Amino acid sequence: MPPQLDKNGVEITDVGLLRFGFDSRVPIDTLRSLYLRPHYVTSSSDVAASDEKEDEEHAKFVKGNTPYQSKSIYHADSNSISYTTLSRFSPVRLLSPSNRKRILVTGGAGFVGSHLVDRLMLLGHEVTVLDNFFTGSKTTVSHWVGHPNFEMVRHDVVEPFMIECDQIYHLACPASPPHYQFNAVKTIKTSFMGTLNMLGLAKRTKARFLISSTSEIYGDPEVHPQPEDYWGHVNPIGPRACYDEGKRVAETLTYGFHRQDGVDVRVARIFNTYGPRMNPYDGRVVSNFIVQALKGEDMTVYGDGSQTRSFQYIHDLIDGLIALMNSDETRPVNLGNGDEFTILEFAKLVRELVRKVQIEDGIDPATLRDIQIVHRPMPTDDPQKRRPDTTRAKTTLDWQPRWTVRMGVEEMVRYYKAKLAEGSL
Ligand SMILES: NC(=O)c1ccc[n+]([C@@H]2O[C@H](COP(=O)([O-])OP(=O)(O)OC[C@H]3O[C@@H](n4cnc5c(N)ncnc54)[C@H](O)[C@@H]3O)[C@@H](O)[C@H]2O)c1
Repeated sequence: MPPQLDKNGVEITDVGLLRFGFDSRVPIDTLRSLYLRPHYVTSSSDVAASDEKEDEEHAKFVKGNTPYQSKSIYHADSNSISYTTLSRFSPVRLLSPSNRKRILVTGGAGFVGSHLVDRLMLLGHEVTVLDNFFTGSKTTVSHWVGHPNFEMVRHDVVEPFMIECDQIYHLACPASPPHYQFNAVKTIKTSFMGTLNMLGLAKRTKARFLISSTSEIYGDPEVHPQPEDYWGHVNPIGPRACYDEGKRVAETLTYGFHRQDGVDVRVARIFNTYGPRMNPYDGRVVSNFIVQALKGEDMTVYGDGSQTRSFQYIHDLIDGLIALMNSDETRPVNLGNGDEFTILEFAKLVRELVRKVQIEDGIDPATLRDIQIVHRPMPTDDPQKRRPDTTRAKTTLDWQPRWTVRMGVEEMVRYYKAKLAEGSL
């Protein structure tokens, strides 16, 4: 693969930052080996030959990390799949006991959580994942199961949980509209009671507490871009309120515990984020577009497509979350990418990149369908425009997004393409 250059033209060889005495840098290839899985073996009859081909394919994206891959063998004749276990885990940093932290990640089996877990594990910390697997899946972190630094607990955060820990990343909450609207009462209960329980745990253990809040707390904003001191414009009784108001009350609780009980808190307001391991069917625009284009279906745009969005790649977000956790910033911090696209422009970009990856992977362009963009009515309360003001993250964390949307989408296309080949899309 040609060298990948970040927004400033610097080659991306690692992700993570050295901030506030905390070195979170890991080589990008090591990280990629955990999610850009090798192409799937399509027949079990000649596994050795397929293994060789698979390693070759994989090496295109991930240099030197093939010994740490588990394999999934697809048996076409019986439409079944067998999984192998790892003979060795990816190497993790060796930390002294005083530097090694016990870190709890709620929602750690979800999209954002699993990438955070990868990063914290590679950095050498002890990580406990707490998840009820409502939208998350064990497969996102299965490559760590059995590692001495890793533990996974099935638990619902609305119930209290006791553990000794130094840091809590509280991410547990469904994040996409179909999922959080599936049971609105449960969503707001998760936001309120889950956050209450985790703040109680932070108070008891004196752990530092970080909550993943959201740009949705700004609602349909009247201010562009949105700085952290904008209070928002939220419909309290609309279909999105269970999530938006849930996160608002979760922030209120967080600052209640901070002021009243001295809990050491961090609040990340996350804007639209995308990347590998996003649930392909949860109605979020990036995954929708990629899956539709990969399957050769027409791409659905709601409204006329002139509404704008900004998209942040998952590795930028994880850099920001870790930097925030280790900083002294207790005020809310926006984490997002300010590059604005209209939804229509974005759909066209995805279409172009899917085609590029398909052709690079040897598909004859003549066999590819000409994908159309079709328009559907706009859902209720869908914000027209949202863009982060990330001045605070820049000044206090020295953080800025590095990944271009083009680079991120291309990586995600490759991930979904492998999923499609596996038969799980
Ligand atoms: N992805 C984004 O663009 C985005 C944007 C803003 C905020 N966020 C926030 O980041 C966090 C993670 O989002 P994501 O995109 O990874 O979503 P996700 O749905 O992939 O992950 C959420 C995880 O929380 C778990 N969970 C849900 N309810 C739970 C409960 N009651 N008890 C225990 N576990 C529970 C789910 O099973 C899942 O593993 C969420 O808090 C979300 O609000 C995400």
